Amino acid sequence: MNISKRINTLVNFIENDSLADIGTDHGYIALHAHNKKKLKKIIACDINKEPLNNCKNNLQKHNLENVIETRLGSGVSKIEIAEVETAIIAGMGGNLIVDILKENLEISKSFKQLILQPQASVANVRRFIHEIDFSILNEKIIFEDGRYYFILNCINKKEEPYTDFQYDFGKLLLEEKNSLYKDYLLIELEKKMYVNSNIIDNAIQADKYTLKKIKGMLGMYKADEDKDESELRKIESMTEDLDNSLSKNEESFNKIKVIILNLKAAITILNGDSNVISLENFRK
Ligand SMILES: C[S@@+](CC[C@H](N)C(=O)[O-])C[C@H]1O[C@@H](n2cnc3c(N)ncnc32)[C@H](O)[C@@H]1O
Repeated sequence: MNISKRINTLVNFIENDSLADIGTDHGYIALHAHNKKKLKKIIACDINKEPLNNCKNNLQKHNLENVIETRLGSGVSKIEIAEVETAIIAGMGGNLIVDILKENLEISKSFKQLILQPQASVANVRRFIHEIDFSILNEKIIFEDGRYYFILNCINKKEEPYTDFQYDFGKLLLEEKNSLYKDYLLIELEKKMYVNSNIIDNAIQADKYTLKKIKGMLGMYKADEDKDESELRKIESMTEDLDNSLSKNEESFNKIKVIILNLKAAITILNGDSNVISLENFRK
């Protein structure tokens, strides 16, 4: 079996001898964990029948259908409290991972270790890990097949909460001054600066231009003694819509400016020029 760097990293983090692979799909994580770690118990779960059947077929190919258990159900709902020590939840959005853990909090909190690989919204996962009194022991970033992947190795032990900046950018990745992470943030910065902010700025300029014209028309129309009142209301309502659109775009533009400033601060830290605390103070 050709094992990806991502799956290999996930499996390398397993510290205990029982595993739940949540959202198993093809079952590769469970299979590789069996081959590499010789675990006493592995349960592969999926909410959908089709992926679970994929998993069962792959287990049969390797004569492991009686070794690795499969269970159909949402999240960790089919795992008993303290039945297994480690859970891997990988290849899903960060918000879905949080929802899965929240859905059966007692079971989630009974794991000794959570290995999580959110495809997006990593900051929300970091925040939630602390909310349930787990700590983030390691955080890794991987580049494979043109994509960046974040992997969080968490254990059931409370730790000091992070600052907002550390939740957003990953305290451990910043401290490690990870160069792959710097590449990732530079790409994000470029997207925000040259794509998102330019699009919004163009929209703002267009709104401003049209507003100026319409407001000029409105002034002239109001002064006209033979004016059609219903036409006047139409122009007034158009002006109002444009005003709203302009203020929404300006709000988005300001948000992007803050994101850009934070991205630049994080890149500065990764360059080794400063530290999180002083840059946070600088931003205020
Ligand atoms: C993209 S696959 C990831 C497969 C594997 N974990 C990996 O990282 O390679 C996502 C899988 O999660 C499953 N899934 C989605 N929501 C789920 C939930 N609430 N509980 C369990 N599995 C879920 C989907 O059916 C799908 O098989």
